[in-house]
Amino acid sequence: MALSCIWLMFFFSLFGHGVLELIEAFHHVYLNVHQTAQYSTSGNQPYRTSYHFQPPNNWMNDPNGPMLRLGIYHLFYQYNPKAAVWGSNLIWGHSTSTDLVNWTPHDPAIYPSQQSDINGCWSGSATILPGGHPVILYTGIDPENRQVQNLAAPKNFSDPFLREWVKFKHNPLLTPNSKNKINATYFRDPSTAWLGSDGNWRVIIGSQKKERGLAILFKSNDFVHWEEAEKPLYSANKDTGMWECPDFYPVLFKSPLGIDTSSNGPDVRYVLKVSFFRTPHDYYMIGTYNPDKDIFIPDNGPFKDSSLRYDYGKFYASKTFFDDKYPLHRRILWGWVNESSSAIDDIKKGWSGVQAIPRSIWLDKSGKQLLQWPIKEIETLRGTQIELPYQVLSGGSVLEVSGLTAAQIDHSIVESFGAEGKACITARVYPTLAINDAEAHLYVFNNGTENIGITRLSAWSMKKAQIN
Ligand code: FRU
Repeated sequence: MALSCIWLMFFFSLFGHGVLELIEAFHHVYLNVHQTAQYSTSGNQPYRTSYHFQPPNNWMNDPNGPMLRLGIYHLFYQYNPKAAVWGSNLIWGHSTSTDLVNWTPHDPAIYPSQQSDINGCWSGSATILPGGHPVILYTGIDPENRQVQNLAAPKNFSDPFLREWVKFKHNPLLTPNSKNKINATYFRDPSTAWLGSDGNWRVIIGSQKKERGLAILFKSNDFVHWEEAEKPLYSANKDTGMWECPDFYPVLFKSPLGIDTSSNGPDVRYVLKVSFFRTPHDYYMIGTYNPDKDIFIPDNGPFKDSSLRYDYGKFYASKTFFDDKYPLHRRILWGWVNESSSAIDDIKKGWSGVQAIPRSIWLDKSGKQLLQWPIKEIETLRGTQIELPYQVLSGGSVLEVSGLTAAQIDHSIVESFGAEGKACITARVYPTLAINDAEAHLYVFNNGTENIGITRLSAWSMKKAQIN
């Protein structure tokens, strides 16, 4: 059996769990944890990452509104400015980059300031309108704690960093009400909108009715007045619970190149991703989009437990965007990787949550699944390289690979990509011993009984990125 794999990050060991936590669905609500403003993380920080995106402190969850504009990448993210645990009063943190590796922080872009988001600014997406003008649709939590959809646009389009955002005066654009019968606590996370050949914009919003997940479709000819379509773009045929952060985008058949979210045509297949609030995992389906009926028809029937996942470890509330920075044409996937540590530990360290390294994502030649690979730019951080020639690793044996130091390798996350991007597994790890040069070592294990031929093994030490 041949083994060919690249490990991006190493580091092992676990921490204890056990907290005072009341699990309110996926986001934990910590009744006994007083949320106080924290402006710096505590001194001893063995688990902060060196090249995975994270804010300087406090809680972060979903990536929001990723986009490219005038050569600058923007990443917004769900951020709690007051604590290292989730709270409903979230705001949109904002950072920019020219290479998706090094990031500059900016002031928060969107924070409660209107009736329509006074209790929190939750997830949403950016859409680049014709003429290159970006706008953001996001979920606001209103005074009655209803989830409503709001619009924001840059204050000054000539600011390359788009540092200030203004909200549409007549927000909210979309509300749950008795006519549309949408439950006010299950109506969130607008996707990037796409433009149909009829000149109407479409957007999907996550929801559930009678425990069945829904990607509700809305249409608009001016991005301001939205009407619910007769049918959802897609709905579950059984009890799946709430679908969060839906993402819907085209991929090319038999080409790894990415295309704009509004593209369609004979060589195009469609991907619908939803984040299952219950599990919590990101599942996707590949299928056909019928623009006349505005429905998605998956190739392999409805979502089931065995449906494809982006990642078989920790990776949630993800979102893609189209990157056509010259000479590129690719679709990039961002995903939130939360902690495995306890809330008490998160409060002690003063932060929680990282983003996975952005991944290129495209359709496999078979047309049956997506492939993912960390963006090429991350290789600019590679330092010392070691290379193992072909060799056989017998069953039950362990091989130590010497020549690498671990001082910079990214202390609390491992992202693994197998079979050239067919299977991805992301894990959080909190080593207690292997945290510096002297104690960290790299090993290759064969825990099976059969011999394994290692066709190739390359590993690099990684330099630190500039992150916020
Ligand atoms: C996903 C999610 C979204 C919501 C946001 C709130 O993790 O629950 O549905 O908009 O987080 O922070």
